[in-house]
Amino acid sequence: MSLLIKNGRVITASEDYIADIFIQEEVITAIGKDLSVKADNEMDASGMLVFPGGIDPHVHLDMPFMGTYSSDNYETGTMAALYGGTTTVIDFILQKQGNSLHAALDEWRSRSDKNCVGDYSFHMAVTDFNEDTKKEIREFVEIEGITSFKTFMAYKGALMIDDRQMIGLMEEVKKQGGMVTVHATNGDMIDYLISKHREEGKLSPLYHYLSQPEVTEAEASERFVDMINYTGCPGYIVHMTCEGALNAVRNATRRNQKVFVETCIQYLLLDASLYEKDFDGAKWVMSPPLREKKDQLTLWAGINQGLVNVVATDHCPFMWEQKKMGEKDFSKIPNGHPAIENRMELLYSEGVNTGKITLNKYVEVACTNPAKIFGMFPQKGTIGIGSDADIVIFDPNLKHTLSASTHHMNVDYSGYEGWEVTGKVKSVLLRGKLVIDDNKCLAEKGNGKFIKRNKVTQYI
Ligand code: URP
Ligand code: ZN
Ligand code: ZN
Repeated sequence: MSLLIKNGRVITASEDYIADIFIQEEVITAIGKDLSVKADNEMDASGMLVFPGGIDPHVHLDMPFMGTYSSDNYETGTMAALYGGTTTVIDFILQKQGNSLHAALDEWRSRSDKNCVGDYSFHMAVTDFNEDTKKEIREFVEIEGITSFKTFMAYKGALMIDDRQMIGLMEEVKKQGGMVTVHATNGDMIDYLISKHREEGKLSPLYHYLSQPEVTEAEASERFVDMINYTGCPGYIVHMTCEGALNAVRNATRRNQKVFVETCIQYLLLDASLYEKDFDGAKWVMSPPLREKKDQLTLWAGINQGLVNVVATDHCPFMWEQKKMGEKDFSKIPNGHPAIENRMELLYSEGVNTGKITLNKYVEVACTNPAKIFGMFPQKGTIGIGSDADIVIFDPNLKHTLSASTHHMNVDYSGYEGWEVTGKVKSVLLRGKLVIDDNKCLAEKGNGKFIKRNKVTQYI
C-alpha cells in the first residue's frame, strides 16, 4: 500500500518547507514539491503542519507503584498517546530488589506484549546492582535492544540505590555502550523530611511539596553529574524541575561535559501554588513536585540554551479513588500525573504559539532528540527518506478545551481541566498506517511494535 500526503508544511528539527510526502508500506520513500507518483491513497494537508510522530521517553503504564498500579494500561496509554500525536513511548521496567533484571523484563512483557496500540520500548530500572545483575547488562544492550538503565537516587527502601551501586552500574553500562538515566533527588533528605512532617501532624499534599525542596534535587543532580563525569558513562537526568538542578548541568558544561536533560510538560506550565488547594492538590502530587514560576522560566530558557534536550511527561496516572489512599497522609498518595495525551498540544500551544520556542525547537525536544538520545534515530523522530512513516498532521489554528470528559487516558480527572489550547492533532500515521483521524482511533491493541534500540552513539 502507498500513500501520498500532499501540500503539508513539513517541520523537522532543522527544516520548514511545503512538500508532498510519499509513503510505501511502513516508510517514507520520497519527499518533494508536486511529486508525480501514483499512490493508492492521498491525503490533503494544505494549511496543516506535518511533523514527525512525537516520542515520549518517560511514561509509566500499568506499573506497580506505591501499593497500586498506574491506571493506564498498555492499550489505553498508547492509544491516548496516539490521540495526542505521540507515536512511540518508552516505559520503565522496575527490577524487584533481590530479583534479576530478566525476571522483571518477563513480568513487564506479560502486561505489554500484544497490548500496545502505538510503538513502545523500555528503559530498565536497576534497583539492586550486584555481581549477578552486572552480567545481565550486556544481554539487555546486545540482545534485548534495551540500552538505557534507569536509577533512582530517591524512594528509599523501595527503588533507591546508593552511590556505590551507581558507580558500579555506570562503569558496566559505559563498557556495554548504554546510558544511565536518573531520578535525581536526595532520597535520605526526603525520607527525613517526610518523617518529620508526619510526626508534626502535617499531612496534607502541601507537605509532599515541602518534603522535597529544590536543594534535594540540586544536590543529587550535581552528584550524578560528577559521577558520570568521573566514570565517562553517558548520563540523562529525567524530569528536571528547577533552577538549582539545571545550574549543576550548566556548571558541568564549563568542563566541556555533556549531560542530557529532560523536563516534563507540567514543570513548564504548572507551579506549586496548586498544592495549596487542600486535598485537591493530590492531583499534582508527583516526584519531584511542581516548583516555582522562576523555575518555569529557567526551564524554558534551558530549552533555548540547549541545556534541556527533551520535553516528556512522566505520565503516571492514578484514578481519584487511588489518590485518596493518601487522604489522611500525603506520603501515601500515589505519585504521578496524567499527560501522555496532552504533551504535544500543550507544548505547541504554550510554547510555539506564545513564541517561547520555535517550531523547529518544538520538533527537536518532542520528537528528534528523544530518538537520537535513546538510539532510535533516524528510524524514528524525523521526516526523512527511509524513516518510519510516523507522521502527525496538525491543525495549528484549531482551538479546543482539555477535559477529563473528552480525553482518552484512563483516568477520571485532568491536570489541565478547562485549559483552552490552540492547535490540535488532526491525523496520525504510525509506520504508514492511519491510526488517528478526526478524533477517531482506527487501530487496535497489537498494532504497536516493540522497538529495539541501538547503543548510545549519537550526541546531540
Ligand atoms: O511522581 C512520579 N514521578 N511518579 C512516577 C515515578 C517517577 O518517579 O518517575
Ligand atoms: Zn522519577
Ligand atoms: Zn517517572
